[in-house]
Amino acid sequence: MSLKLMQSVKYLTAAAAFTFCAVSAQAADVLRVGTEATYAPFEFMGDDGKEIGYDIDIIKAIGAAEGYEVEIVNMGFDALIPSLLSRQIDAVIAAMTITPERAERVAFTEPYYDSGLSVLIRKADQDKFKTIADLKGAVLCGQIGTTGAKKAEELSGGNAKSYNYESEVFNELKLGGCDGAVNDRPVNLYFLATSHAEDIVEMSERITAEQYGIAVHKNNDELLSKLNAGLKKIREDGTFAKIHEKWFKVAQ
Ligand code: ARG
Repeated sequence: MSLKLMQSVKYLTAAAAFTFCAVSAQAADVLRVGTEATYAPFEFMGDDGKEIGYDIDIIKAIGAAEGYEVEIVNMGFDALIPSLLSRQIDAVIAAMTITPERAERVAFTEPYYDSGLSVLIRKADQDKFKTIADLKGAVLCGQIGTTGAKKAEELSGGNAKSYNYESEVFNELKLGGCDGAVNDRPVNLYFLATSHAEDIVEMSERITAEQYGIAVHKNNDELLSKLNAGLKKIREDGTFAKIHEKWFKVAQ
C-alpha cells in the first residue's frame, strides 16, 4: 500500500471510529432535564457556572440508577411546562409542586419532597403584619408562574408583583418594592440562613402543604416508570437520604 493510501485508510478508520463514538454517545440515552436555577437550595448556579442543588443531585442519582446521562437545561420557570409539551426537554425537576392544574397538562412522578409556602416580611413591619390575614392590601411578590406568585395574588387581594428570578423577589422585599415575599418555605429559610438579611423575618403561620414531583410528557409512560423506579432505588440504597442531609443538614 502506498504511503498516501495508508494515510487515507488511517484517516478513514479514525473518522469511522469518531462517527461511531458520536452515534453511541447519543444513543447513551441523554435525558434533557429542564430547571430554573435561581431557587436555592434546590437548583442554583455554582461558582463554576454549573447548576447545583438538591434537585440536581436527585435527578443525577436517578439518571445513574436508570442508565441516563443527565443534561440540565436552565430556563424561566414559566417556560418549563411548555418546553416539556413541545418535547424540547424530556423532564422537569424544579422544586415543582404537584398541582391539579399542572397534572392536567403533564405527568408527575411519585412525590419526592414535602414542602409548602411561607411569607417573608421586613422586621420593621412585624407589628403591622401579625397574621396572614393582615396581608390583604399589602404588596406581595413571588416568582413568575409559581404557586407562591398565585398565593401572593390571593392573599394581597390582587396586589401582587411577580419576577423572573428568585433573587429579584428577595431584592424587592429588601428594597421595599413589596411588603412580603411568598415562596416555598425551604427557599425562604435557606435565604435567611445564608444571606445575612437581618432585617427580614419569616411569618410564623404556614400557608400551604405542597409536594414536589418530577414532570414528564403525558405520553411518556416509559420515562415516567423509569424515573419512579430510579427514585425507589435511590431511596432504598440510601442515596436519597444522603442528598437530603447534604443540602438540609438534617436527616430526612
Ligand atoms: N414549588 C413552587 C411551584 O411549583 C415554586 C417552584 C419554583 N422553582 C424554581 N426552580 N424556581 O410553583
